[in-house]
Amino acid sequence: MAVVVDALDAGYYAATCPDAEAIVQDAMSRLHYTDPTLAPAIIRMLFHDCFVRGCDASVMIVPTPLHTTSERTAVPNHTLRGFTAVDAVKRALEDACPGAVSCADALVLMARDAVALLGGARYGVALGRRDGTVSDPSEVDLPAPFAKLADVLDYFAARGFSAEETVVLFGAHTVGGAHCSSFRYRLTGPDDGTMDEALRRDMLDACGAADLPLDTDPATFFDPDTPFVVDNDFYKQLMSNRTLLQVDQEAATNPCTAPHVAYYAATPDAFVRRFSEAMAKLSNVGVLEGDAGEVRKVCSRYN
Ligand code: HEM
Repeated sequence: MAVVVDALDAGYYAATCPDAEAIVQDAMSRLHYTDPTLAPAIIRMLFHDCFVRGCDASVMIVPTPLHTTSERTAVPNHTLRGFTAVDAVKRALEDACPGAVSCADALVLMARDAVALLGGARYGVALGRRDGTVSDPSEVDLPAPFAKLADVLDYFAARGFSAEETVVLFGAHTVGGAHCSSFRYRLTGPDDGTMDEALRRDMLDACGAADLPLDTDPATFFDPDTPFVVDNDFYKQLMSNRTLLQVDQEAATNPCTAPHVAYYAATPDAFVRRFSEAMAKLSNVGVLEGDAGEVRKVCSRYN
């Protein structure tokens, strides 16, 4: 599955839905001001969509009595959020131009606007993706937070992303947050020895040491100082062992990635620019074009 751009076109909806980008941008701005946690969730949804079967909205399908499973039932997608917002944006698009704009394109545009709303650089995207007609949980092979970085680099390389681009995309973990379940083994179990002791204590408090039972699953921000800003704080945290996810932390020491981590920790502007370039590239992974697939009417179900 590689990055494909052949049939995509920035003016794809010029005749069929000329206001598509403005409709999405307007809806995303409104949603963002009522819930700033949405934008990070949409950025994550794009990653989970595009790395499984390409950017084809396969992640949005809800199981039915006929198809009792979908990508949404796979473990890495249990904590995905933002589906209601996707439905709202799609409804606005359908109201203006019925049957024109695919859910895959809607998500790409929402993620682009999410990055800008979080203070990142605005980037252009080509459009014309079609929606997939398969959503199979057994195909969801997204890496776990405790995956070995070497395997993750291979996994990203198979989708066309260099080690540098992988490090840049990890930088998405400067916005939003994680539930304790994805890192609490680092707090209590045999320690991998890399978490800053002060952070470990804070996270024990937040996740359930003192008065919270360990079986609750609170969520905490990756970057508590600026959780809704696309900035290079993530890399500074990596350099001081203050990252929640083990696979992220390994990027600070792995020889293939450590120089990139150090570079982006030192050059905020370069990160902001490269992050948007990497998001634009992510938006083009394995897309369906031409007559493939369909344009769904409702994003959560096939036509
Ligand atoms: C090895 C690769 C990755 C792993 C293992 C990973 C894992 C995770 C985990 C466990 C969470 C917390 C989910 C929760 O508990 O609610 C998370 C959140 C998040 N991830 Fe990743 N991730 C990876 C790569 C990426 C990439 C490439 C992007 C986007 C470009 C991304 C964007 C996000 C965002 C924005 C959040 C916050 C979501 C929210 O606040 O709802 N991640 N990730």
